[in-house]
Amino acid sequence: MNRDDFPLLSDDIIYFDNSATSLKPKCVIDKMVEYYSKYPANAHRGDYDLSYKVDQEYEETRELVKDFINAEYLEEIIFTSGTTDSLNMIINGFFANLLEQNDEVLLTMSEHASNILPWYNLAQKKGIKINYVPLDNNYYLTMDNLKKTVTPNTKVISIAGITNVIGDIRPVKEICAWAHENNIFVILDGAQMVPHVRVDVKDLDVDFLAFSAHKMCGPTGVGVLYGKKELLEHLEPTTLGGGMNESFDNPYEVVLKELPTRLEAGTRNIAGVIGFKEAIKYLNNIGMENIHKYELDLRKYLINKLLLLKHIDIINIESDSGIVTFNVNNIFSQDVAYYLNKYNICVRAGTHCAKILKSSVGVSNTVRISLYFYNTYEEIDNLVELLSNYDKILKEMI
Ligand code: ALA
Repeated sequence: MNRDDFPLLSDDIIYFDNSATSLKPKCVIDKMVEYYSKYPANAHRGDYDLSYKVDQEYEETRELVKDFINAEYLEEIIFTSGTTDSLNMIINGFFANLLEQNDEVLLTMSEHASNILPWYNLAQKKGIKINYVPLDNNYYLTMDNLKKTVTPNTKVISIAGITNVIGDIRPVKEICAWAHENNIFVILDGAQMVPHVRVDVKDLDVDFLAFSAHKMCGPTGVGVLYGKKELLEHLEPTTLGGGMNESFDNPYEVVLKELPTRLEAGTRNIAGVIGFKEAIKYLNNIGMENIHKYELDLRKYLINKLLLLKHIDIINIESDSGIVTFNVNNIFSQDVAYYLNKYNICVRAGTHCAKILKSSVGVSNTVRISLYFYNTYEEIDNLVELLSNYDKILKEMI
């Protein structure tokens, strides 16, 4: 990894908002420019060389994604527009048909909006029930609490692998093993997990996984829906149109294509999918284990420094990811972000799309630092120096 690979890092900017989206290395940007300038044809439609080239580049990404998460079959990798799209497809295309009135889905209060709102919708439309596993004192999901919350009606557990405010890593493998013994499906929201730790879908044995390219050095507008093949066969397309049908005729005679094409209606974000390939190669070159280890070292360094500042209240001291969430005494989180922005430091403040977490944590707004492998100890020193002077924050925050 070379910081020079990231054009933004040549500016005087410290970027600590990697959970919202990551920076893109030049190889990803160049690959998309290559597509737009050298072979800007559609995929899977043309009988000419340019279009074959697109097909080949597009499908190569699918192979890389398959290997990256260790899926069994290529057909298990569906390109979507992002985690939100993937989760909506899983919930509306599979579970909406499977679940019946009074069946239950298990969530937690720290889930992201994309793993809550589609369930609200299903609850209102179909009368399914939503249960929340209580979080422990660190706001973690424990096996004990999960087992206690399951009822005979629980059909699916839908959770983030790493949550986007607390940053805890969930015991996904253990959850899947126990859930499957009890005939419960598991959906893994991998938006914050896949970019930071090795995720092996066969080892974890998850039924469905959703994640986004843009949080792992890839382009925006590209995501992945992974599902076990035998389950994806029963996922009804939620979008119908060109590319995904074999034939149609009046009246209502439609023959759909096989997986994965059946679930990729319309023209996809071809440049994005092709660019995503370079992002995966980039991460593979560094190694996911190295990324996780470095982020943990950085986090420890940051936490130890913040702990020395009496006016800072850290919400997630113990978490095991690069997410550090805190508040500065009596200062609104967005004012802290505004203050840091004056010094070219990008952080996120507010509820971070986890709006019901406040009932567990007791505070609704926080400042969040989310680290990635290109962040440095020096950047943390700069941040902490700015945060250490409480009077300066008060004076400059507006
Ligand atoms: N889900 C993203 C975040 O946590 C946008 O910031």
